Amino acid sequence: MPAASPNLSFLPNVRGDDPRQKLIVALDVSTAAAAQRIVAAVGDSALTYKVGMQLYTAEGPPIVRDLVASGRHVFLDLKYHDIPNTVGAAVTEAARLGVSMLTVHAAGSGKMLRAAVEAAKSRPGLMVLAVTVLTSLDGNDLEKIGVRGTVEDSVVRLATIALANGCRGVVASAREASTLRAEHGEDFAIVTPGVRPAGSSMGDQVRVVTPAEAIASGASHIVVGRPITEAADPAAEARAILGQISG
Ligand code: C5P
Repeated sequence: MPAASPNLSFLPNVRGDDPRQKLIVALDVSTAAAAQRIVAAVGDSALTYKVGMQLYTAEGPPIVRDLVASGRHVFLDLKYHDIPNTVGAAVTEAARLGVSMLTVHAAGSGKMLRAAVEAAKSRPGLMVLAVTVLTSLDGNDLEKIGVRGTVEDSVVRLATIALANGCRGVVASAREASTLRAEHGEDFAIVTPGVRPAGSSMGDQVRVVTPAEAIASGASHIVVGRPITEAADPAAEARAILGQISG
């Protein structure tokens, strides 16, 4: 089954076969204090944390700077989608914050994606990931906004545009991951949310896969939020997930 390509082992000083390369913990909380409690509880069982709209809107750049200063890697998931100049400028600022991965919408089209990729070069190793079709959208939603074809057609089309314009990877569900690997090979990241360890609560996720299934489908990284952040022992939960994706 596909494994992450060596150049997707983006954490310096961590062995390429260390399963922590593949695990991203989503910090979907509203305060820096809550985020730091989770990070402390996880300890060295995870190295990369996703800061999304909720935490960033509440706490802003200081939470990102603090995580980076404490040696953690940050995936800034703000899904930029604006004119190329504005997105490029935002990516320049994200690079200055020291993030390791960030997201843009592939639907922003080639010029915007190139502006993001160019700006990201100011921080070597910074991965620009493209969001294709949000999994909250179905074929009817796409049709209403004038997008023809199946959701899968759109995912593949948008991923093709993203990779052709220099993005290092995409955010995609496990179901889409296998199609994207078949279409575009191994040399790009597929970051997959909606992951639930076998036997855990589904939360509000509808289509879920286990960590091992996500990796087997072609994901290079998995994003796990509540199963870890709401666990009685977040470090143990993270270690259990690492066990399921190692080897
Ligand atoms: O808590 P949970 O593991 O469901 O968190 C998943 C994270 O991945 C959240 O930050 C959520 O916004 C994000 N996400 C998702 N499904 C998608 C895209 C992103 O759950 N299709």
